[in-house]
Amino acid sequence: MESASGIEAALETAVASCDALGCPPRLAAAIRYAVFPGGARIRPRLCLAIAAGCGEPNSPLAEATAASIELLHCASLVHDDLPCFDDAATRRNRPSVHRAFDERIALLAGDALIVLAFQNVARAYAGAPERLAGIVLALARAVGAPGGLVAGQAWECEATTPLEEYRRQKTGALFIAATVGGALSAGADPAPWRLLGERLGEAYQLADDVRDALGTDDELGKPAGRDAELGRPTALAELGVHGAVRHFERLIAEAAASIPACPGAEFLRELVDLEAQRLLPPSLLQRAA
Ligand code: IPE
Ligand code: IPE
Ligand code: MG
Ligand code: MG
Repeated sequence: MESASGIEAALETAVASCDALGCPPRLAAAIRYAVFPGGARIRPRLCLAIAAGCGEPNSPLAEATAASIELLHCASLVHDDLPCFDDAATRRNRPSVHRAFDERIALLAGDALIVLAFQNVARAYAGAPERLAGIVLALARAVGAPGGLVAGQAWECEATTPLEEYRRQKTGALFIAATVGGALSAGADPAPWRLLGERLGEAYQLADDVRDALGTDDELGKPAGRDAELGRPTALAELGVHGAVRHFERLIAEAAASIPACPGAEFLRELVDLEAQRLLPPSLLQRAA
Protein backbone atom coordinates (compact mmCIF):
# COMPACT_ATOMS: atom_id res chain seq x y z
CA MET A 1 0.00 0.00 0.00
CA GLU A 2 1.17 3.45 -0.96
CA SER A 3 0.80 4.81 2.58
CA ALA A 4 2.88 2.06 4.23
CA SER A 5 6.29 3.63 3.65
CA GLY A 6 5.07 7.01 4.91
CA ILE A 7 3.83 5.42 8.13
CA GLU A 8 7.07 3.50 8.72
CA ALA A 9 9.15 6.61 8.01
CA ALA A 10 7.07 8.74 10.40
CA LEU A 11 7.39 6.05 13.09
CA GLU A 12 11.15 5.88 12.51
CA THR A 13 11.43 9.67 12.94
CA ALA A 14 9.59 9.48 16.25
CA VAL A 15 11.43 6.43 17.61
CA ALA A 16 14.84 7.73 16.50
CA SER A 17 14.39 10.72 18.81
CA CYS A 18 14.65 8.25 21.74
CA ASP A 19 17.90 6.72 20.46
CA ALA A 20 19.72 9.93 21.30
CA LEU A 21 22.75 9.99 23.57
CA GLY A 22 21.74 9.91 27.22
CA CYS A 23 18.79 7.52 26.89
CA PRO A 24 19.32 4.29 28.86
CA PRO A 25 20.15 1.80 26.07
CA ARG A 26 17.75 -0.95 27.21
CA LEU A 27 14.86 1.52 27.33
CA ALA A 28 15.70 2.83 23.83
CA ALA A 29 15.95 -0.76 22.57
CA ALA A 30 12.61 -1.76 24.15
CA ILE A 31 10.86 1.27 22.62
CA ARG A 32 12.15 0.30 19.18
CA TYR A 33 11.30 -3.38 19.76
CA ALA A 34 7.70 -2.46 20.65
CA VAL A 35 7.20 -0.52 17.42
CA PHE A 36 9.21 -2.48 14.79
CA PRO A 37 8.38 -4.67 13.02
CA GLY A 38 4.74 -3.70 13.14
CA GLY A 39 1.50 -5.61 12.93
CA ALA A 40 -1.42 -4.67 10.70
CA ARG A 41 -0.88 -0.89 11.16
CA ILE A 42 -4.63 -0.60 10.57
CA ARG A 43 -5.13 2.52 12.71
CA PRO A 44 -2.47 4.64 10.92
CA ARG A 45 -3.63 3.39 7.50
CA LEU A 46 -7.16 4.43 8.36
CA CYS A 47 -5.98 7.84 9.54
CA LEU A 48 -4.08 8.48 6.29
CA ALA A 49 -6.97 7.28 4.13
CA ILE A 50 -9.28 9.77 5.82
CA ALA A 51 -6.84 12.66 5.53
CA ALA A 52 -6.64 11.84 1.79
CA GLY A 53 -10.45 11.65 1.63
CA CYS A 54 -10.55 15.13 3.17
CA GLY A 55 -8.32 16.45 0.39
CA GLU A 56 -4.83 16.11 1.89
CA PRO A 57 -3.06 13.03 0.46
CA ASN A 58 0.63 12.49 1.30
CA SER A 59 0.42 14.98 4.13
CA PRO A 60 3.27 15.11 6.68
CA LEU A 61 0.74 16.23 9.31
CA ALA A 62 -1.43 13.18 8.66
CA GLU A 63 1.64 10.92 8.72
CA ALA A 64 2.75 12.30 12.09
CA THR A 65 -0.80 11.92 13.46
CA ALA A 66 -0.99 8.36 12.13
CA ALA A 67 2.39 7.55 13.68
CA SER A 68 1.34 8.95 17.07
CA ILE A 69 -1.81 6.82 17.03
CA GLU A 70 0.28 3.74 16.26
CA LEU A 71 2.71 4.63 19.09
CA LEU A 72 -0.24 4.77 21.49
CA HIS A 73 -1.46 1.43 20.17
CA CYS A 74 2.00 -0.14 20.62
CA ALA A 75 2.13 1.22 24.19
CA SER A 76 -1.24 -0.36 24.92
CA LEU A 77 0.01 -3.74 23.66
CA VAL A 78 3.16 -3.57 25.82
CA HIS A 79 1.11 -2.82 28.93
CA ASP A 80 -1.68 -5.27 28.03
CA ASP A 81 0.82 -8.14 27.79
CA LEU A 82 2.31 -7.54 31.26
CA PRO A 83 1.79 -10.23 33.89
CA CYS A 84 -0.60 -7.97 35.83
CA PHE A 85 -2.91 -7.78 32.77
CA ASP A 86 -3.01 -10.60 30.18
CA ASP A 87 0.37 -12.16 31.02
CA ALA A 88 1.11 -12.88 27.35
CA ALA A 89 4.51 -14.35 26.48
CA THR A 90 4.29 -13.51 22.78
CA ARG A 91 3.17 -10.65 20.56
CA ARG A 92 3.53 -10.25 16.80
CA ASN A 93 5.09 -13.74 16.62
CA ARG A 94 7.97 -13.11 19.03
CA PRO A 95 8.51 -12.61 22.76
CA SER A 96 6.43 -9.78 24.23
CA VAL A 97 8.42 -6.78 25.47
CA HIS A 98 8.52 -7.85 29.13
CA ARG A 99 9.77 -11.31 28.06
CA ALA A 100 12.42 -9.93 25.70
CA PHE A 101 13.55 -7.34 28.29
CA ASP A 102 11.92 -7.37 31.73
CA GLU A 103 8.79 -6.08 33.43
CA ARG A 104 10.22 -2.81 34.65
CA ILE A 105 11.58 -1.89 31.23
CA ALA A 106 8.27 -2.90 29.59
CA LEU A 107 6.29 -0.67 31.95
CA LEU A 108 8.64 2.24 31.28
CA ALA A 109 8.78 1.65 27.52
CA GLY A 110 4.96 1.78 27.41
CA ASP A 111 4.99 5.01 29.43
CA ALA A 112 7.66 6.52 27.18
CA LEU A 113 5.70 5.58 24.04
CA ILE A 114 2.62 7.40 25.32
CA VAL A 115 4.64 10.54 26.01
CA LEU A 116 6.44 10.19 22.67
CA ALA A 117 3.10 10.13 20.83
CA PHE A 118 2.23 13.59 22.18
CA GLN A 119 5.77 14.93 21.68
CA ASN A 120 5.66 13.71 18.09
CA VAL A 121 2.51 15.64 17.16
CA ALA A 122 3.69 18.72 19.05
CA ARG A 123 6.85 18.74 16.91
CA ALA A 124 5.09 17.94 13.64
CA TYR A 125 2.41 20.62 14.01
CA ALA A 126 4.86 23.47 14.71
CA GLY A 127 3.93 24.91 11.31
CA ALA A 128 0.16 24.43 11.80
CA PRO A 129 -0.44 25.42 15.45
CA GLU A 130 -4.14 26.09 14.79
CA ARG A 131 -4.65 22.34 14.24
CA LEU A 132 -2.57 21.11 17.17
CA ALA A 133 -4.99 21.53 20.10
CA GLY A 134 -7.67 19.49 18.31
CA ILE A 135 -5.23 16.67 17.65
CA VAL A 136 -3.87 16.63 21.21
CA LEU A 137 -7.39 16.55 22.66
CA ALA A 138 -8.48 13.77 20.29
CA LEU A 139 -5.47 11.63 21.24
CA ALA A 140 -5.90 12.32 24.97
CA ARG A 141 -9.58 11.44 24.81
CA ALA A 142 -8.75 8.15 23.09
CA VAL A 143 -6.16 7.11 25.63
CA GLY A 144 -7.15 8.34 29.08
CA ALA A 145 -10.10 8.48 31.45
CA PRO A 146 -13.06 8.63 31.40
CA GLY A 147 -13.56 6.93 28.02
CA GLY A 148 -10.23 6.01 26.45
CA LEU A 149 -8.33 2.76 26.31
CA VAL A 150 -6.95 3.12 29.85
CA ALA A 151 -10.54 3.31 31.07
CA GLY A 152 -11.42 0.33 28.88
CA GLN A 153 -8.67 -1.80 30.40
CA ALA A 154 -9.77 -0.68 33.86
CA TRP A 155 -13.16 -2.38 33.37
CA GLU A 156 -11.23 -5.64 33.81
CA CYS A 157 -10.54 -4.50 37.38
CA GLU A 158 -14.23 -4.03 38.27
CA ALA A 159 -16.65 -6.62 39.60
CA THR A 160 -18.99 -6.18 36.65
CA THR A 161 -18.20 -5.02 33.11
CA PRO A 162 -20.60 -3.29 30.72
CA LEU A 163 -19.49 -5.16 27.59
CA GLU A 164 -20.25 -2.61 24.92
CA GLU A 165 -18.61 0.15 26.93
CA TYR A 166 -15.57 -2.10 27.50
CA ARG A 167 -15.10 -2.75 23.75
CA ARG A 168 -15.78 0.84 22.81
CA GLN A 169 -13.27 2.22 25.28
CA LYS A 170 -10.44 -0.29 25.08
CA THR A 171 -10.44 -0.53 21.26
CA GLY A 172 -13.05 1.75 19.69
CA ALA A 173 -11.61 4.93 21.19
CA LEU A 174 -8.31 4.66 19.31
CA PHE A 175 -10.11 3.92 16.05
CA ILE A 176 -12.14 7.10 16.62
CA ALA A 177 -8.85 8.95 17.14
CA ALA A 178 -7.70 7.54 13.79
CA THR A 179 -10.75 8.75 11.86
CA VAL A 180 -11.19 12.05 13.71
CA GLY A 181 -7.42 12.64 13.72
CA GLY A 182 -7.22 12.06 9.96
CA ALA A 183 -9.87 14.72 9.37
CA LEU A 184 -8.37 17.18 11.89
CA SER A 185 -4.90 16.80 10.36
CA ALA A 186 -6.43 17.98 7.07
CA GLY A 187 -8.17 20.92 8.74
CA ALA A 188 -11.57 19.30 8.05
CA ASP A 189 -14.65 18.89 10.26
CA PRO A 190 -14.13 15.63 12.20
CA ALA A 191 -17.81 15.08 13.09
CA PRO A 192 -18.80 13.12 9.93
CA TRP A 193 -15.93 10.66 10.55
CA ARG A 194 -16.64 9.69 14.13
CA LEU A 195 -19.14 6.93 13.44
CA LEU A 196 -16.75 5.11 11.10
CA GLY A 197 -14.13 4.88 13.86
CA GLU A 198 -16.70 3.87 16.44
CA ARG A 199 -18.24 1.05 14.41
CA LEU A 200 -14.98 -0.21 12.92
CA GLY A 201 -13.27 -0.19 16.32
CA GLU A 202 -16.03 -2.13 18.01
CA ALA A 203 -16.09 -4.60 15.11
CA TYR A 204 -12.33 -4.98 15.41
CA GLN A 205 -12.54 -6.03 19.07
CA LEU A 206 -15.39 -8.44 18.35
CA ALA A 207 -13.26 -10.04 15.63
CA ASP A 208 -10.29 -10.18 18.00
CA ASP A 209 -12.46 -12.04 20.53
CA VAL A 210 -13.55 -14.55 17.86
CA ARG A 211 -9.97 -14.96 16.62
CA ASP A 212 -8.79 -15.59 20.18
CA ALA A 213 -11.25 -18.50 20.45
CA LEU A 214 -10.80 -20.00 16.96
CA GLY A 215 -7.24 -19.13 15.93
CA THR A 216 -3.89 -20.71 16.78
CA ASP A 217 -0.86 -19.09 18.44
CA ASP A 218 0.98 -19.09 15.09
CA GLU A 219 -1.90 -17.50 13.19
CA LEU A 220 -2.45 -14.79 15.78
CA GLY A 221 1.19 -14.18 16.67
CA LYS A 222 0.06 -14.09 20.32
CA PRO A 223 -1.28 -16.71 22.72
CA ALA A 224 -4.67 -18.01 21.55
CA GLY A 225 -7.44 -18.95 23.96
CA ARG A 226 -6.26 -16.41 26.51
CA ASP A 227 -9.68 -14.73 27.00
CA ALA A 228 -11.27 -17.99 28.16
CA GLU A 229 -8.29 -18.85 30.38
CA LEU A 230 -8.46 -15.44 32.05
CA GLY A 231 -12.26 -15.41 32.22
CA ARG A 232 -12.42 -12.16 30.25
CA PRO A 233 -15.86 -10.71 29.54
CA THR A 234 -15.77 -11.10 25.75
CA ALA A 235 -18.26 -11.01 22.92
CA LEU A 236 -18.17 -14.80 22.82
CA ALA A 237 -19.25 -15.22 26.40
CA GLU A 238 -22.07 -12.78 25.67
CA LEU A 239 -23.24 -13.79 22.19
CA GLY A 240 -21.56 -17.09 21.27
CA VAL A 241 -19.40 -17.36 18.13
CA HIS A 242 -22.28 -17.09 15.67
CA GLY A 243 -23.89 -14.19 17.49
CA ALA A 244 -20.53 -12.38 17.68
CA VAL A 245 -19.92 -12.89 13.95
CA ARG A 246 -23.40 -11.59 13.09
CA HIS A 247 -22.85 -8.53 15.27
CA PHE A 248 -19.43 -8.03 13.63
CA GLU A 249 -21.02 -8.12 10.17
CA ARG A 250 -23.66 -5.59 11.24
CA LEU A 251 -21.00 -3.23 12.60
CA ILE A 252 -18.89 -3.55 9.43
CA ALA A 253 -21.92 -2.75 7.28
CA GLU A 254 -22.69 0.29 9.44
CA ALA A 255 -19.04 1.38 9.26
CA ALA A 256 -19.05 1.19 5.45
CA ALA A 257 -22.42 2.97 5.21
CA SER A 258 -21.19 5.80 7.45
CA ILE A 259 -18.39 6.89 5.08
CA PRO A 260 -19.25 10.42 3.93
CA ALA A 261 -19.25 11.28 0.24
CA CYS A 262 -15.69 12.35 -0.62
CA PRO A 263 -13.05 11.61 -3.29
CA GLY A 264 -11.61 8.71 -1.25
CA ALA A 265 -14.92 7.08 -0.29
CA GLU A 266 -14.51 4.10 -2.62
CA PHE A 267 -10.98 3.41 -1.33
CA LEU A 268 -12.21 3.59 2.27
CA ARG A 269 -15.07 1.17 1.61
CA GLU A 270 -12.52 -1.22 0.10
CA LEU A 271 -10.26 -0.81 3.13
CA VAL A 272 -13.13 -1.68 5.48
CA ASP A 273 -14.10 -4.66 3.34
CA LEU A 274 -10.54 -6.03 3.09
CA GLU A 275 -10.03 -5.66 6.84
CA ALA A 276 -13.27 -7.54 7.51
CA GLN A 277 -12.06 -10.40 5.30
CA ARG A 278 -8.59 -10.40 6.84
CA LEU A 279 -9.98 -10.49 10.39
CA LEU A 280 -12.57 -13.22 9.95
CA PRO A 281 -11.82 -15.25 6.81
CA PRO A 282 -14.20 -18.13 5.95
CA SER A 283 -11.40 -20.64 6.68
CA LEU A 284 -11.34 -19.46 10.31
CA LEU A 285 -15.10 -19.32 10.71
CA GLN A 286 -15.48 -22.90 9.44
CA ARG A 287 -13.87 -24.07 12.66
CA ALA A 288 -16.88 -22.86 14.62
CA ALA A 289 -19.18 -25.26 12.76
C1 IPE B 1 -4.58 -5.94 18.85
O1 IPE B 1 -4.61 -5.00 17.83
C2 IPE B 1 -5.30 -5.43 20.03
C3 IPE B 1 -6.71 -5.12 19.79
C4 IPE B 1 -7.20 -3.98 20.03
C5 IPE B 1 -7.63 -6.11 19.31
P1 IPE B 1 -4.07 -5.33 16.36
O2 IPE B 1 -4.70 -6.62 15.90
O3 IPE B 1 -4.32 -4.15 15.49
O4 IPE B 1 -2.54 -5.57 16.61
P2 IPE B 1 -1.29 -5.39 15.61
O5 IPE B 1 -0.89 -3.98 15.66
O6 IPE B 1 -1.75 -5.83 14.23
O7 IPE B 1 -0.24 -6.30 16.17
C1 IPE C 1 -7.10 -5.21 23.33
O1 IPE C 1 -7.20 -6.08 24.37
C2 IPE C 1 -7.13 -3.77 23.75
C3 IPE C 1 -5.90 -3.19 24.28
C4 IPE C 1 -5.96 -2.08 24.91
C5 IPE C 1 -4.58 -3.81 24.09
P1 IPE C 1 -6.94 -7.63 24.13
O2 IPE C 1 -6.32 -8.18 25.34
O3 IPE C 1 -8.16 -8.30 23.63
O4 IPE C 1 -5.90 -7.61 22.93
P2 IPE C 1 -4.90 -8.77 22.53
O5 IPE C 1 -5.76 -9.98 22.22
O6 IPE C 1 -4.01 -9.02 23.71
O7 IPE C 1 -4.18 -8.26 21.32
MG1 MG D 1 -6.33 -7.38 27.49
MG1 MG E 1 -4.39 -9.02 25.63
